[in-house]
Amino acid sequence: MLAIIGGSGLTQLASLEVARREVVRTPYGEPSGTLAFGRIGAQEVVFLARHGHGHTIPPHRVNYRANLWALVKAAGAEGIISVASVGGIRDDLGPGALVVPHQIIDYTWGRMHSFFDGGDAPVVHVDFTEPYDRALRERLLCAAAAAGLKTSGAAVYAATQGPRLESAAEIERLARDGADIVGMTGMPEAALARELEIPYAAICAVANWAAGRGDSASTIHFDRLEAVLQETLGQVRRVIEQLCATRVAAP
Ligand code: HPA
Repeated sequence: MLAIIGGSGLTQLASLEVARREVVRTPYGEPSGTLAFGRIGAQEVVFLARHGHGHTIPPHRVNYRANLWALVKAAGAEGIISVASVGGIRDDLGPGALVVPHQIIDYTWGRMHSFFDGGDAPVVHVDFTEPYDRALRERLLCAAAAAGLKTSGAAVYAATQGPRLESAAEIERLARDGADIVGMTGMPEAALARELEIPYAAICAVANWAAGRGDSASTIHFDRLEAVLQETLGQVRRVIEQLCATRVAAP
């Protein structure tokens, strides 16, 4: 079973033949919404909309622990693909680019970011050298290539707190830190997946130039953002369909 977490603009997957929906409660509270179970091609899939079906949950209020627990412990997902919209920092990652990041930097704060949160359980420090699963990233990149889509497979994702966008100076700083794209939901999601020992990878749709970059030199153009995002998410859907069609072993 493969889990897909849909981000902004991706609250459902047309190609997913939904067999059932399930409300799941977890020891960490409620996930963002019902889990939709079904198939894409030969692949069993469970889908969850990260911001809720009506897109009402802002990035800093997503219950990441409940989402991850529901998908892995309740639904039995063996791998997670995260879909996220991001801003482009690196020169070649403008609006419309598709990115499968290989690294992440966490700038978020105040989020419940660990399952190992005290109590009686022993402290566990998970390895996070490679935050994204190599094999799952490879499958995403191969699926994109098979679908005839260009993707960038080496990019550093900066996770910011939101919900506001960044200042130009903040983006400059992220660029100096080595970040190539910026989004608000990559953490603690990736780290929680690692704590649960579940392969996790992300496919990111660049919706806009990050603040101060490209045509966002003085302001971010929201009017264009939605159209670009919808088109790019159409490509993300094709990648996911292709990945599910070429199902190999688990997940
Ligand atoms: N910054 C942070 N998150 C984002 C952006 C951005 O410019 N665009 C889409 N998600």
